[in-house]
Amino acid sequence: MTRRRRVYEGKAKVLFEGPEPGTLVQYFKDDATAFNGVKKSTVTGKGVLNNRISEHLMSRIGEMGIPNHFIRRLNMREQLIKEVEIIPVEVIVRNVAAGSICTRLGLTEGQPMPRTLVEYCFKSDDLNDPLVSEEHITAFGWASSQELDEIMSMTLRINDFLCGLFTAIGIRLIDFKLEFGRYFDGDEMQIILADEISPDNCRLWDIATNEKLDKDRFRRDLGGVEDAYQEVAKRLGIMPEGGPNDLKGSNSMQ
Ligand code: TMP
Repeated sequence: MTRRRRVYEGKAKVLFEGPEPGTLVQYFKDDATAFNGVKKSTVTGKGVLNNRISEHLMSRIGEMGIPNHFIRRLNMREQLIKEVEIIPVEVIVRNVAAGSICTRLGLTEGQPMPRTLVEYCFKSDDLNDPLVSEEHITAFGWASSQELDEIMSMTLRINDFLCGLFTAIGIRLIDFKLEFGRYFDGDEMQIILADEISPDNCRLWDIATNEKLDKDRFRRDLGGVEDAYQEVAKRLGIMPEGGPNDLKGSNSMQ
């Protein structure tokens, strides 16, 4: 078996070169980290679940006309994606106060936002992803104003769509993080949604009980991380074929 070229390794995913030019294989690991990698562990089955959940959400988002990098799922832990030049900005959408904004602005967790807030962070592990404004993004050339306008417009549409999708399965979308990239097709360049959408980068609370169904279970040592991710997959109707027993998947990265 030929070994694939590893293009990039992040905290939860590995990118390998894809079978055709302009494609990559995105491999979902079971590794979980928080606080910029300070807290580390593995959550058995997380990679398999995130692969499925992200496939589902990216596909639905694609169907509503928002271009994204997902092409198709290849196996339990891998999906084929379009290669993009990642814009080094994390786009955070907040519908309800939780996490870092509560400490930063003295808000109470669970307090609804006056309106949906979109924040930007500069994607840099070395600097701990600092909060930045549109001014920093355009001044330092991370994205142009026109690109940011497109990103903002896609982000708000994605938020509306995902809020509805999750409400229908009894989940409140508290906040989430998106990443975008430039996709080059000949002379054409298009901004498309990239990365993943999963309980690793969303806060998802049960509507009835406010139970956390996301990575905060890991960040805050609440236990039941895998069960929470499984519950999200179950409600989305996409539990892996073999059910919970089939979650391990092959860990092979060959
Ligand atoms: P925060 O409250 O910690 O700023 O997180 C806001 C949202 O962004 C939350 O849904 C988790 C997600 N997020 C990531 O996906 N990656 C990160 O590195 C951080 C800090 C947050």
